[in-house]
Amino acid sequence: MSKNPTELAAYRALQAHYQNIQGKHLRDFFAEDATRGERLTAEADGLFLDYSKNRITDETLKLLLDLAREAGLEEHREKMFSGEKINTTENRAVLHTALRAPRDATVLVDGENVVPEVHEVLDRMAAFAEKVRSGSWVGFTGKPIKTVVNIGIGGSDLGPVMAYEALKAYTQRDITCKFVSNVDGTDFAEAVHGLNPEETLFVVSSKTFTTIETLTNAHSARSWLLAKLQDDDAVAKHFVAVSTNAAEVSKFGIDTANMFGFWDWVGGRYSMDSAIGLSLMIAIGAANFLDLLAGFHAMDRHFQTAPLHANLPVLMGVIGVWYNNFFGAESVAILPYDQYLSRFSAYLQQLDMESNGKYVRVNGEVVNYQTGPIVWGQPGTNGQHAFYQLIHQGTKLIPADFIGFAQSLNPSGRHHDLLMANFFAQTEALAFGKTSEEVAAEGITGSLVQHKTFEGNRPTNTLLATRLTPFVLGQLIALYEHKVFVQGVIWDINSFDQWGVELGKVLANRITPELEAAQTPELHHDSSTNHLIRRYLALK
Ligand code: F6P
Repeated sequence: MSKNPTELAAYRALQAHYQNIQGKHLRDFFAEDATRGERLTAEADGLFLDYSKNRITDETLKLLLDLAREAGLEEHREKMFSGEKINTTENRAVLHTALRAPRDATVLVDGENVVPEVHEVLDRMAAFAEKVRSGSWVGFTGKPIKTVVNIGIGGSDLGPVMAYEALKAYTQRDITCKFVSNVDGTDFAEAVHGLNPEETLFVVSSKTFTTIETLTNAHSARSWLLAKLQDDDAVAKHFVAVSTNAAEVSKFGIDTANMFGFWDWVGGRYSMDSAIGLSLMIAIGAANFLDLLAGFHAMDRHFQTAPLHANLPVLMGVIGVWYNNFFGAESVAILPYDQYLSRFSAYLQQLDMESNGKYVRVNGEVVNYQTGPIVWGQPGTNGQHAFYQLIHQGTKLIPADFIGFAQSLNPSGRHHDLLMANFFAQTEALAFGKTSEEVAAEGITGSLVQHKTFEGNRPTNTLLATRLTPFVLGQLIALYEHKVFVQGVIWDINSFDQWGVELGKVLANRITPELEAAQTPELHHDSSTNHLIRRYLALK
């Protein structure tokens, strides 16, 4: 049943509660409870969350968890894991969790256990990846593969590229992966610049196999290959496809023997642990890929079984709702203190914003409250020298997630301690700030006192793990997947469709022939669009 969150008793109680504590400072929260920093923490299989630097009390948390319960979180969670068709606008089950279920698990879709099929594809991927890695898969002229180019966009790109960067330390370094996504020809041109087609394998990744960007890039890749190899038979040795659409794969000219499938119950942005991860598996090997899946699965189990008050995705989800719906925060910063996670926030942008960027409730009514936040960020310490100023002293409240590791994968002198000193210092500074009295006590006078004062009271979560392993990466991704789910349930939206990207595609299809026409066509857009198109045609 569709429930407007603002009409739930817990929501009303939270509104009243917000009035009482909105002005309260994190300094006071900590002063009142010496154990707060140890108490407001939770852990899932070694992944540690400190949520004490949030503007919450025990009462806040109780009410937020009441809200989650009242919104039906536990029932919805069960429905998702058991394969009910909770993606109602597309009449689909939502079962990315089945992609990482152990071989002996049972997950039913329409009465059929999908786990054997999942593992059959994983086994085929592993065998293929091993051939490429060992050099026994050779190109058309008998040379082993040196570069794997993944062609895909959105969920068929962001996950693999993020994880390839994140797990670079685990990759076989004599094979390089490249990722082509943009329909801008520059992306393809730069990716293949200097490559030898004889040693290049293209993995065309597209759930639907109808996405214009991916098909355009795939066609360019085929022309690039054939320009050198001059024989259509070469395609079979240099192209594989990852898709749910065998008919379109064949139509493109890729033998379906070289196709790795997945299923319509896997959303694009939830698909990196399906065959969409093929390029990643080639890079890191099957064992590491399975370790990644084990991390995902561990977080699935945690989400499914841990009590709500100790459940990482639930805690992060409800705390996010607290800032989004009560404090009016519009964005969330994701700040990993690990260079390997340089693409993590870009990945989470699609995961979160495509999932929860909705203004229509499950029942079709327009919401009268805020839904998904803007997600952004980049790794520390770089961000500190760019946008942190606004987080510290700007006028906007920006809750932030700090993600760090106790051990570096590249230990070198003082680097890691310096990195982590900044990691701890930032959340401390954001929470506690620096008072005018403290500034004045340093001998600062006049208006400079105000300039140098830090209000503090900026909330953060801290996620700390031992080391960035494939397992931990899996845990982290699943943590955010489920956090997004928790929030989608509370906001009563369908987190699993993405109709909002359709209109732009339709209009682009209408404009394309106008740009490609031999003569300037009659244009029937608004005056701005007409004028811009005419100018483009005159200049091109
Ligand atoms: O941007 C819309 C979208 O449908 C995403 O949800 C998806 O990840 C992406 O396009 C790519 O789709 P496909 O894998 O079908 O090419």
